[in-house]
Amino acid sequence: MPYTHRLSLYFVAMICLWWTTGAAQQLTSPNGDFQLEMSLTPNGSPQYQLSYKGKPVIKPSQLGLQLKDAPSLQEGFTIAETHSTEVDKSWNPVWGKQKTVRNHYKELVVQLIQEQQEGRSIRLRFRLFNDGLAFRYEFPKQPKLNYFVIEEENTEFALAGDHKIFWIPGDYDTHEYAYTTSKISEIPEKMEEATIFINAQTPIQQPAVQTPSMMKSEEGLYINIHEAALKNYAAMELNVDAARQVMSSHLVPDAVGNKGYMQTDTHSPWRTIIVSDDARDILASNMIINLNEPTDYKDTSWIQPIKYIGVWWEYFVEGKSTWAYGKETNVKLDDDFSKLTPNGRHGATTEHVKEYVDFAAAHGFDAVLVEGWNIGWEDWIGNWKENVFDFTTPYPDFDVEEVNNYAHSKGVKIMMHHETSAAATNYERRLDRAFEFMNKYGYTSVKTGYVGQIIPRGEHHDGQWMVNHFTHVAKRAADYNIMINSHEAVRPTGLHRTYPNWLAQESARGTEFEAMGGLAPEHASILAFTRLIGGPMDYTPGIFQTDLSYYGDNQQRVNTTLVKQLAYYVTMYSPLQMAADLPENYKRFPDAFQFIKDVAVDWDKSWYLEAEPGDYVSIARKAKGKKEWFVGSITDEHARTATIDFSFLPKGEKYIASIYADGKEASYDKNPQSYTIQKVVVTHKSKLKQYIAPGGGLAISIKEATPQERKDLKKM
Ligand code: NOJ
Ligand code: CA
Repeated sequence: MPYTHRLSLYFVAMICLWWTTGAAQQLTSPNGDFQLEMSLTPNGSPQYQLSYKGKPVIKPSQLGLQLKDAPSLQEGFTIAETHSTEVDKSWNPVWGKQKTVRNHYKELVVQLIQEQQEGRSIRLRFRLFNDGLAFRYEFPKQPKLNYFVIEEENTEFALAGDHKIFWIPGDYDTHEYAYTTSKISEIPEKMEEATIFINAQTPIQQPAVQTPSMMKSEEGLYINIHEAALKNYAAMELNVDAARQVMSSHLVPDAVGNKGYMQTDTHSPWRTIIVSDDARDILASNMIINLNEPTDYKDTSWIQPIKYIGVWWEYFVEGKSTWAYGKETNVKLDDDFSKLTPNGRHGATTEHVKEYVDFAAAHGFDAVLVEGWNIGWEDWIGNWKENVFDFTTPYPDFDVEEVNNYAHSKGVKIMMHHETSAAATNYERRLDRAFEFMNKYGYTSVKTGYVGQIIPRGEHHDGQWMVNHFTHVAKRAADYNIMINSHEAVRPTGLHRTYPNWLAQESARGTEFEAMGGLAPEHASILAFTRLIGGPMDYTPGIFQTDLSYYGDNQQRVNTTLVKQLAYYVTMYSPLQMAADLPENYKRFPDAFQFIKDVAVDWDKSWYLEAEPGDYVSIARKAKGKKEWFVGSITDEHARTATIDFSFLPKGEKYIASIYADGKEASYDKNPQSYTIQKVVVTHKSKLKQYIAPGGGLAISIKEATPQERKDLKKM
């Protein structure tokens, strides 16, 4: 599918030039809902404020940066020049929630000059969309500003009230926290409880939260703060001044405490504020991808959405199989691994992987992820060790060539696994050989992982050095026609537009935690408004055996009904979706498994039917290039009745809907496997009111009805 960049409408509305010192600059969104005002304080500090439908969203908030060993870019400015334009163009992503994305905004560029600092200058670029504001700092090339080091970016978001906020603690290394819901003013007192243990965490030592940060005002305004196009810059956390409800940027530092190394001509990522009085608009927003650069990949035909299974969940639930092959725990890469004492529980054996391949082939999956195939897992975690893995040497009981040949003969790909153990240096050194190895055996996608403390020691997962590592890996992978699914990487900011082979990321608390303490039933309805705003998530849904005591000693349980796991394939958007449970469990519920087999992973269009952060989400999507639609609806710990309005269907046709619903007695904690499947005829006039159990969901697949089916089934 070649990348197409369709220009439907593009015009420059006006260009204004001012030569002025401080007059307030104004900008209105195309639909007139948003008003931005940018001005200078008497000491020449830039500030901005934002209102929506006449009400303040962001009160006057400062802009600027503190530099190391240099005068700040914070004050003493005058406005030299301003430009404004309007852009309205549409483009087609390689894959996505919709086939065509409209990018419509009004832009204001303000050039600021520090006369007292030898005329140094920066530009502020504001874009007002119909769903909110984005802005960034630009640092043009100029005689007196070539290289500089950022001590801190001081962007404020002065909120207009003590809003409800869905938050996780600010942390330089992990996003795998459970969410806390509170007032902004309550964040400091709840911080300790919220900062649960995560392997390799670096919580910020003052009240701070991560982005995407989702808020709701008392008047029912939904506000989401995040960033877009995070490249060659540290990720932004938000300091919280709880008493004043002011958030301010807190960049992730490097090993020596600096926050960014810059060379002009350059710019910061975009700071984004998505706002609406309808929660569904937050989910529907395309602001973040629109702010990212189009891809410059010439050929994207090799980039394909993926539905996969994997030798994976058994490592978490059964305690029977392991990533490691040997019993020994102190190993080195140049050891002879065939001399280790087999522990007898190694998961990634040629034979066992072939069973997964057979299952994938029988049920139409594209790929099988194989973790634990390569040497080094005996002491992969906890030692802050550099050479943990080499990414090219299989264990003695895993025959790479045989497994791949077998898989390919059945039309299945093996998904590579590169756990780096956070030794990014080691991975970069070995990257080309690792990708050559993948090309040689026909692997086309890789799941990467960064568990542990980063090497170079002192760097953080979300600092500028690692941000550059992640983009380097994505770009380099493209040279080898390889797709990436990264775990423990910096949270996404829409870069999948620029690097469409970077299919998905984890970067949040996903299914694995169901086996390690559990996820709250409301978790997924918060993720939709937080983590997923930046890009697709490899959440790894599809767990049918939710009570893990089924396997023996594990007393954990997945806090959803079985049907909610189906709904995730629609609500948890990703072009890469895993069916994470063990094949044996899918064999026990073949009728429910049918939904996972049918559901699409790439879409022509999406409709956001019902939404409230922390409570529920209902989404319908049309499969790309097919007359098939899928609906997913999820609730939190409370039962509810979903209202599904089928007006998204084309007029005049009759369709068959397969409705996968929670049973009357179902609940996530006591009766998760009770479900019903019903086939009915639907048209664009149909409306369905469907009971959803506590911790439950609803999944619907819709196809064109054959004449016979129409006769057989009663109309809804
Ligand atoms: C953490 C990842 O999230 C998980 O999916 C993976 O199995 C382990 N690391 C091992 O790489
Ligand atoms: Ca993880």
